[in-house]
Amino acid sequence: MAARHFLTLNDMTTSELEQLLDHASRLRKEWHAGKTRDSLKNRVLAMIFEKSSTRTRVSFEAGMTQLGGTAMFLSPRDTQLGRGEPIEDSAIVISSMVDAVMIRTFAHETVERFASASSKPVINALTDEFHPCQLLADMQTYREHRGSIRGATVAWIGDGNNMCHSYINAAAQFDFHLNVACPEGYEPDSNLLKAHSDRVTVVRTPEDAAKGANLLVTDVWASMGQEDEQKAREKAFQDYQINPALMSVAAKDALFMHCLPAHRGEEISADMMEHPGSVVWHEAENRLHAQKALLEFLILNRLD
Ligand code: CP
Ligand code: NVA
Repeated sequence: MAARHFLTLNDMTTSELEQLLDHASRLRKEWHAGKTRDSLKNRVLAMIFEKSSTRTRVSFEAGMTQLGGTAMFLSPRDTQLGRGEPIEDSAIVISSMVDAVMIRTFAHETVERFASASSKPVINALTDEFHPCQLLADMQTYREHRGSIRGATVAWIGDGNNMCHSYINAAAQFDFHLNVACPEGYEPDSNLLKAHSDRVTVVRTPEDAAKGANLLVTDVWASMGQEDEQKAREKAFQDYQINPALMSVAAKDALFMHCLPAHRGEEISADMMEHPGSVVWHEAENRLHAQKALLEFLILNRLD
């Protein structure tokens, strides 16, 4: 049987995603109750990082250990990946020795090529195009605070980047409406917008996006790999900040999320993390629980 991969949210059905999130909440409760499980005993996850990470690395590595398995950190600096060994050759070899592979890289095509040659599940842990693991945590966090997100309005404020693209996929999978507020020239991918024109509205002002919204989300103005554009982006995005004033035009009980790391004074005001609607720490922790559920789903093909 061909391995099941998780490169975007579209690699799972809505019903599988809902079951995965139910399981993630169960794992969260177990973790807080101090209960352990060894569902992935003797299993190994290879983790390839071509970009920096705190949350993703810690959550996958801790998650594998907590399920009885181990995780192996691979950097292109000290593997043959950085010396030009073809991606497909690396995929055949690595997947012949481990149970799943997690990759954080630049071009989305890299994870697709790796997955096409891998005999074991491949997980996209962020590419320039998508960040589906973060969306699992975000969706888990929303439903743990507010129940189903079906029919809700989500406001994305800022860059039409990898996180925004995954929010567009989530809007379709979880049945909510997404308002995207971004400056001209920083819109999400036009094909993705076209494919989801019934669920995504692009507007120019944060207020238009946030009005009556149930969830406000943002991300850094310059993503990893765009460091050279920092100054230009600071200028382009200066009016695209989530702050208490913007929260006040949203629904009364609106939540605020951010995948982190955050830049206080840029995409969020200095006080936003402590706003009553902020669930950023819960969201960050849920990376652990959502990905433990994902690892069980992909490696064991079950969610219990
Ligand atoms: N949100 C997120 O993916 O964080 P890291 O870059 O720290 O992994
Ligand atoms: N858009 C950001 C997300 C970081 C978790 C980036 O790609 O750097």
